[in-house]
Amino acid sequence: MEDRVIIFDTTLRDGEQSPGATMNTAEKLRIASKLEELGVDVIEAGFPAASPGDFDAVRQIAQQIQKSTVCGLARAIPDDIRTCAEAVKPAKYPRIHTFVSTSEIHLKYQMKKSQEEVLEIARQAVRLAKSLCDDVEFSAMDASRSDRDFLCRVFEAAIEEGAKTLNIPDTVGYAIPEEFAALVDYVMKNTKNIDKAIVSVHCHNDLGLATSNTLAAIRAGARQAEVAINGIGERAGNTSLEEVVMSLKTRQDLFKVDTRIDTTKIVPISRLVTMITGIQVQPNKAIVGANAFAHESGIHQDGVLKNPMTYEIIRPETIGLHSNKLVLGKHSGKHAIRSYLADMGYRLTDDELQSVFEKFKNLADRKKDIADEDLEAIVNEGVLRSSALFKLEYLHIASGTTVDPMAHVKLLINGRSAEESCKGNGPIDAAYKAIASLTRTSATLMRFSISALTDGTDAQGEVTVRLKEDGLVALGRGSDLDIITASAKAYIDGLNRLEHMKANPVPVQDGV
Ligand code: KIV
Ligand code: ZN
Repeated sequence: MEDRVIIFDTTLRDGEQSPGATMNTAEKLRIASKLEELGVDVIEAGFPAASPGDFDAVRQIAQQIQKSTVCGLARAIPDDIRTCAEAVKPAKYPRIHTFVSTSEIHLKYQMKKSQEEVLEIARQAVRLAKSLCDDVEFSAMDASRSDRDFLCRVFEAAIEEGAKTLNIPDTVGYAIPEEFAALVDYVMKNTKNIDKAIVSVHCHNDLGLATSNTLAAIRAGARQAEVAINGIGERAGNTSLEEVVMSLKTRQDLFKVDTRIDTTKIVPISRLVTMITGIQVQPNKAIVGANAFAHESGIHQDGVLKNPMTYEIIRPETIGLHSNKLVLGKHSGKHAIRSYLADMGYRLTDDELQSVFEKFKNLADRKKDIADEDLEAIVNEGVLRSSALFKLEYLHIASGTTVDPMAHVKLLINGRSAEESCKGNGPIDAAYKAIASLTRTSATLMRFSISALTDGTDAQGEVTVRLKEDGLVALGRGSDLDIITASAKAYIDGLNRLEHMKANPVPVQDGV
């Protein structure tokens, strides 16, 4: 099929703006390489001017990625644009994405500028970006609440200055599908030279309409969809990649457009993003939720057994969901693990593989059936977290019906061992008190949740915590056969993320 929608993924930029979803450079690189394997056309790798950490991550992604375009975000100000150009420069296909608000409410209260001033800012921003990078995208922030004719004038100026993509964001998730499609149609009919650019849309999910709005826009002629894995993003999130891609594929009869996405890689990348960000996917989430393919009612089960298409519009294997029992056991060698991980899309260095292998053996000694989720948890904790400030060395718990709960914890802090014993109201409370005392943290535990990673009483427990300190919020995640150890790991993971955030402060960014 000729007609194609460009998939622009913003998991690493808008997705990282989800409360607590901070990622370090190693984590961003891992997600970027999976996005490339998934077949994403454009990877928005970050906001280089936000912090040196962001700049470094975008630059490293630009150096690594070969097939996808690597894009950086920049406000419509010269310093941001120059910094962004520098960060994306090593990419084979670099792009600068610059933006300015166009709605009356943003102009009046936030920017305190007139329409003519904003028009000139947009023009100058695109001109500068174009002088530094051939591929320039321009976004009119809060486009869905902007005056349509002004929007078209701004887009016209952006095209004149060389922008190749014009993005219409529904920044606050306010639009309704028919209305949003009409806006796309209006822009396409009333912007001079629009045939020289691709029309893009970027929808937020505040009313739960991000996917519907994006699909309506595609029907109206938009040919770039800005999306994020699992729909993560600012507030209620962005349009989810998996929902748009699977809608276009499942209802090709209606949309008649294609994407380059290898849909069999959707589930693995969804799990990776969950592991790295600590943001759980709701069980009833379309496509990647745990219940998305679970048939509870007898009538449905009966139908699916007779012919899956009676109640399943997507075959689970189309999105990479398969029965996930490893044929590996405690006698398996390193080669088998390497090749299994390669099938799952993980390519590890020898040192990383050695560390994963040791943890795998350890788990296989204690758990009979090991699932993909178990192996993924090992890879993501063991490899991605290797540069953490705090590491759990040892945990001993005394607890039960007749014992006062007591925890003895040993941590490696910046390479030095330190230990502490504490009592608590329960074993987790005791362990958390000991960790808090050792790390001297003043973080508050805002949320604690625990679930089983797989079926069975020998499943690993998976714990997610939400921590807050000095206005910073971080999520932490940990898994282990022992749920107290999983809880301790999650707490330590959250504390490490807070440290990372403190070391990479993000300045207040007008309107991003
Ligand atoms: O939501 C929004 O408007 C954005 C822009 C920066 C594209 O994220
Ligand atoms: Zn956004």
